[in-house]
Amino acid sequence: MAPHTEQLIRSSAVQLRGLTRSFEDRTVLDGIDLDIPAGQFVALLGHSGSGKSTLLRAVAHLDHEVVGSGQLTAPERVSVVFQDSRLLPWRRVLDNVLLGLDGKEAEHKGREALAEVGLKGRERAWPNELSGGEAQRAALARSLVREPELLLADEPFGALDALTRIKMHTLLRELWERHRPSVLLVTHDVDEAIVLADRVLVLDHGRIGLDLTIDRPHPRSYRDPLLGEYRERLLAALGVTEDHK
Ligand SMILES: Nc1ncnc2c1ncn2[C@@H]1O[C@H](COP(=O)(O)OP(=O)(O)OP(=O)(O)O)[C@@H](O)[C@H]1O
Ligand SMILES: [Mg+2]
Repeated sequence: MAPHTEQLIRSSAVQLRGLTRSFEDRTVLDGIDLDIPAGQFVALLGHSGSGKSTLLRAVAHLDHEVVGSGQLTAPERVSVVFQDSRLLPWRRVLDNVLLGLDGKEAEHKGREALAEVGLKGRERAWPNELSGGEAQRAALARSLVREPELLLADEPFGALDALTRIKMHTLLRELWERHRPSVLLVTHDVDEAIVLADRVLVLDHGRIGLDLTIDRPHPRSYRDPLLGEYRERLLAALGVTEDHK
């Protein structure tokens, strides 16, 4: 397989230039240009199979086996959260959060991060004793403790029930406000994107088909009628009309 011809330049923001990724004869990302300023909260929408995870994996440098080209700039400290919490079942919650970090100071930060996500007192629990939402909270704590400049999240709430998902939205936004990493949140949920992000991208045919700034104050309500206009534009970009939602 051809090696990537991309450069890695350390900086605090994401910059993609002509990013291309292909699987066999299929080009999934077709020359993507994108800048994410430091501290911006961005959501990425797109049909299933449009390449959202491929893009996220590229930015996270998790795709060394994939054929590709282009330039990619990403910060040094990047954390990734997936749909499944990926906690190691044989390690207690605090040990999962600390994974790879040693020392008293790290432990203190780990405990603080667990408290921040509402898991104070659960440090010594085993992952299988946590609910799905709690496991995702622990995954967020594991990211936080690394003080990421960029948080990449691939449908992190996709497996949660609607009520838990709304609570997680509030938590994620609060954490972002406190720590201000750049965020790239992959989701298939238009409402999740509109409520959380300041900018929403739609991936379509390997390119950014729509780049929409959501200019509404936070916290946002799903019922805010002004969000309806953004929803319509995003659904149109996804090829969905309100009648067929
Ligand atoms: N390792 C791989 N080998 C071959 N094809 C792949 C591989 N990973 C992804 N693809 C293909 O690339 C395309 C984009 O996949 P990707 O996982 O990025 O889509 P996605 O937008 O994240 O979809 P979903 O919303 O279903 O998660 C799909 O057609 C998929 O089959
Ligand atoms: Mg995906």
